[in-house]
Amino acid sequence: MTDKLNVSIVGGSGYVGGELLRLLLFHPHVTVQQITSVSQVGKFAHTAHPNLRSATDIQFTHPDTLTECDLLFLAQPHGYSAKNIDHFAGLAGRIIDTSADFRLNDVETYARWYGEPHPAPDWLAKFVYGLPERYRAELSTANYVSGVGCNATVTNLALTPLAEAGLLAGGTVIADIKVGSSEGGARPNEGSHHPERSGAVRSFKPTGHRHQAEVQQTVGDDFDLYMSVTSIELIRGALVTAHCLLNQPVTEKDLWKLYRKTYKSEPFIRLVKQKTGIFRYPDPKLLPGTNYCDVGFEVEEGANRVVIIAAIDNLMKGAAGSAVQAMNVMMGWEETAGLDFPGLHPI
Ligand SMILES: NC(=O)c1ccc[n+]([C@@H]2O[C@H](COP(=O)([O-])OP(=O)(O)OC[C@H]3O[C@@H](n4cnc5c(N)ncnc54)[C@H](OP(=O)(O)O)[C@@H]3O)[C@@H](O)[C@H]2O)c1
Repeated sequence: MTDKLNVSIVGGSGYVGGELLRLLLFHPHVTVQQITSVSQVGKFAHTAHPNLRSATDIQFTHPDTLTECDLLFLAQPHGYSAKNIDHFAGLAGRIIDTSADFRLNDVETYARWYGEPHPAPDWLAKFVYGLPERYRAELSTANYVSGVGCNATVTNLALTPLAEAGLLAGGTVIADIKVGSSEGGARPNEGSHHPERSGAVRSFKPTGHRHQAEVQQTVGDDFDLYMSVTSIELIRGALVTAHCLLNQPVTEKDLWKLYRKTYKSEPFIRLVKQKTGIFRYPDPKLLPGTNYCDVGFEVEEGANRVVIIAAIDNLMKGAAGSAVQAMNVMMGWEETAGLDFPGLHPI
């Protein structure tokens, strides 16, 4: 008998599934019951996730063989969770879905950004957006949690203090985001072919990025937000440089006060702002495998412009790490449980 929480991962062979498995295998309050995959049935986890060799002898099972568990993590491509949510809810009383299916709580907003009606509109209101820094109280009583968009998360955490202070109202933010290749998932495509992807500095989505809706839902929609995403030579990581035109001038001292006040008790947010040194601004290079979001800022002298810089590991704080953090909040456990890896240097 175990008093640990039995969890299963659907889509366990993907990059987010692999990170969830890595975190959950070493989580003090969790037992991993099943990991599913269509393409890897019967194979050991380390076939898809070689870093987990000797960490577990669990094998992939087909999604059709899923059995009841306490909490189900869903980590498949967009659309799959929403189409099967009634089935999954019959198997587990708690669900954390890392896809985009249940992130937006308004049906019309969903249809506008995803180009089709939501397949399970009645479920949208039951899900809480899985960003503990914004929805901790709601998550503590939630049974259904949506994961977070990686580019949305780094932008949300960059902008939250400004939004809460009312400095963005009527203003404009241009969030320029550089991202690594693992954002595209484990399945190869033409653009991920090594000769095409390696060395690329490729505009991926200069306008109309879907995560804009997630950010405006989270930090507010009383300002103009424009997001541009560029793929760079990086495997894990997202860095936002948010050019913010505020409704009034602020000083660096004001920003220090504001960001400290908002984030002083946050276990996974670090303010990074030094006068000297190569790591004086947030840099995703330091974050692979960690659940941190590093946030820094600078004021443009003589203008209402501030630049907020934030960095995450997209597979961690941008996906699996936030999902595990949200589980910790849901379960009333220490929020940092299973998430204490400090990263590597040099790397
Ligand atoms: N990558 C990121 O940085 C990131 C960040 C935040 C959120 N997310 C979200 O997390 C989810 C998983 O992303 P990922 O990067 O891990 O993707 P991925 O590496 O492509 O993995 C997707 C998983 O789903 C399964 N799958 C693939 N096609 C499927 C289909 N048509 N129906 C059902 N299952 C299918 C795959 O394995 P089998 O085919 O073997 O079953 C695999 O286990 C996505 O919804 C993504 O938007 C990703």
